[in-house]
Amino acid sequence: MVGDEFEINIKMSSSVTSVRDQAPILPGVKNIIAIASGKGGVGKSTVTSNLAVALAKTGAKVGLIDADIYGPSIPVMFNCEREQPEVKVIDGKNYILPLEQYGVKLVSIGFLTPADSAVVWRGPMASSALKQFIGDAIWGELDYLLIDLPPGTSDIHLTLVQTVPVTGAIIVTTPQKVALADANKGLAMFRQPQINVPILGVIENMAYFTPDELPDHKYYIFGKDGGKNLAEKYKVPFLGQIPLVQSIRESGDSGLPAALKDGPTSVAFTELAAAVAQQVAIRNAKFESTKRVEINT
Ligand SMILES: Nc1ncnc2c1ncn2[C@@H]1O[C@H](COP(=O)(O)OP(=O)(O)OP(=O)(O)O)[C@@H](O)[C@H]1O
Ligand SMILES: [Mg+2]
Repeated sequence: MVGDEFEINIKMSSSVTSVRDQAPILPGVKNIIAIASGKGGVGKSTVTSNLAVALAKTGAKVGLIDADIYGPSIPVMFNCEREQPEVKVIDGKNYILPLEQYGVKLVSIGFLTPADSAVVWRGPMASSALKQFIGDAIWGELDYLLIDLPPGTSDIHLTLVQTVPVTGAIIVTTPQKVALADANKGLAMFRQPQINVPILGVIENMAYFTPDELPDHKYYIFGKDGGKNLAEKYKVPFLGQIPLVQSIRESGDSGLPAALKDGPTSVAFTELAAAVAQQVAIRNAKFESTKRVEINT
């Protein structure tokens, strides 16, 4: 466990802590967690979907915003590409009612645009879409609101930290050198003094491959322990390794997250969810609530 001076027993769901109680935006949401990477395609959306489902399985109330406005993956990963959220009118204003799938409340731009249409928006429009997903959706009470970010350090990242106080950020990386170089930048962005979002930890995805016929073997296709070393270098928690598994890819494509099925893969995501919940609790015990960023862009 990281943070040796703390001994915290986490009872999931009902005891989920929060330092956001006084926050004016999303008052019913205890923790907002950004999931970022530097490099694209390292598995942010896959990890976020499975993490959301694994947290929900413990009884926690979980929401998920797909903030990848230009390349939304969540509708496919949750098998709700063709569904559209209801719009509720309250005091003459339109509010989005998040879809609910596998116990997770979801909002994605993919629900609002035809599946094969490219979203050609300028930055400010994308930012305003994210703001609406946060402020104009009826999220209600949530223990965790996960934000699946696009790769890199973009306008969207800035919009997020300017719109809500983000409890913490999780960095997803593969162990590969080029992914780590970009993960460094992603991590550094949240740590900038004017942004100052605590890092909840690093997840190493595609950490190794074990063929069915050689269950005792681990092949380190993208290198060994890269994510672990990154966490050590920056003195942030290491949340765990997720192996490269064909069924994780297939489950993503078929819209039934691997965390919902029985087996070792599901166990890996259950353990990851426990590690995340633990780090959120430690963060909330240790640090003041995050401030919303006010900078001129
Ligand atoms: N642990 C894993 N094992 C097998 N396949 C995986 C794993 N993690 C992700 N994938 C696959 O890798 C591809 C990229 O994953 P994903 O879309 O989650 O990455 P991303 O970081 O969200 O990408 P982007 O930067 O485009 O948003 C997908 O095809 C996904 O199914
Ligand atoms: Mg993605």
